[in-house]
Amino acid sequence: MTQTIGIGLIGTGYMGKCHALAWNSVKAVFGNGRRPRLVHLGEVTVELARQKAEEFGFERATGNWRDVVADPEVEVVSITTPNQFHAEMAIAALEAGKHVWCEKPMAVAFADAQRMADAARASGKVAVLGYNYIQNPAVRHIDALLRDGVIGPVNHVRVEMDEDFMADPDALFYWKSEASSGYGAIDDFGVHPLSLITTLLGPVERVMANMSKPYADRPARDGGRRSVETYDIASILIELESGASGLIALSRTAWGRKGRIAVQIFGAKGTITYDQERLNEVQVYVTSDKPAEQGFRTILTGPSHPPYDRFIPAAGHGLGFNDLKIIEAHELLKSIAGQEARVIDFAQGLEIERTVHAMARSHHEGRWVNVAEKG
Ligand SMILES: NC(=O)c1ccc[n+]([C@@H]2O[C@H](COP(=O)([O-])OP(=O)(O)OC[C@H]3O[C@@H](n4cnc5c(N)ncnc54)[C@H](O)[C@@H]3O)[C@@H](O)[C@H]2O)c1
Repeated sequence: MTQTIGIGLIGTGYMGKCHALAWNSVKAVFGNGRRPRLVHLGEVTVELARQKAEEFGFERATGNWRDVVADPEVEVVSITTPNQFHAEMAIAALEAGKHVWCEKPMAVAFADAQRMADAARASGKVAVLGYNYIQNPAVRHIDALLRDGVIGPVNHVRVEMDEDFMADPDALFYWKSEASSGYGAIDDFGVHPLSLITTLLGPVERVMANMSKPYADRPARDGGRRSVETYDIASILIELESGASGLIALSRTAWGRKGRIAVQIFGAKGTITYDQERLNEVQVYVTSDKPAEQGFRTILTGPSHPPYDRFIPAAGHGLGFNDLKIIEAHELLKSIAGQEARVIDFAQGLEIERTVHAMARSHHEGRWVNVAEKG
């Protein structure tokens, strides 16, 4: 009989549902490994927890997240609550001997992210972050193209991450506008481009950042307007340890952009581009093509781009965002089983956090900041 692995989930909003879908699907998609058993779900009230447990298929529900962490039948805890809760919940779960799958960013304060990484190391448990975009078969293919030297040594990378969910000046003030959630675009969004850049091209050495607030205030839920405490836009120059230069542009207020993560990687012998809004496509330009035939070629992902083949046997049908979460869950399970896995763990995640805090320091001090510099 297939062995099971007990799952706990804290938070059932946007990401909580994605984790629940991933836990429900991972065994059916991949066929191998232990079957997730959805044991215990926590929310802010027991009523909401019960409703979501019924919808997602969890056995138990609680209005106190500590019950999830303390449950002896839970082996892995998914943490999908707002950023300011990640540190306390992840550390409690690790100290209780659970593996952790925590949404990005790690924490609001660098010291808390450091404590999370320390707790993970001390526990010996697997602790990984929700950097789903690195899991895309298209991005894995870019990785393979770079490793094979198809575009030669990389000299420049640009990543633009834009969405418009906060573009309306009259969109309600909510937790992402509060300083307790972090700086704004650089930690809410910037960590994703950083996950891609560091996975594909290696660590960032130094940064020069500018952050801005397009709207000074927003309507408050209980009437009146409330001052916006976070920066919805940021532009960051970067230099990688490899010597390549780069640019990251971020906006949560970019009308018309729905889920843009536009990556351009320029090498000595060609260029690779990708955009999350067309997540099943990679564009490649190589100078080895005949001059009269040079131009960007579109590669549509299919069964030749693993693990696409585990979802659908036919090319061109396309995976979606939730499928990336299923792949991430599978990589986490592989890691728990002691196998090599494509994950960003808390130790690697801490380097992303270090880079984000260097960006904030650069903005406030108006200068280039080395990521290794002590804050
Ligand atoms: N990986 C990605 O692509 C991605 C995308 C969106 C959000 N996120 C991250 O996911 C996290 C959650 O964001 P979201 O958009 O799902 O937020 P959300 O507001 O949709 O959901 C958060 C949920 O957490 C619950 N919650 C809050 N405090 C709680 C507590 N103390 N105990 C139990 N439950 C509690 C809320 O009731 C809510 O249901 C954030 O850290 C965010 O940065 C990641």
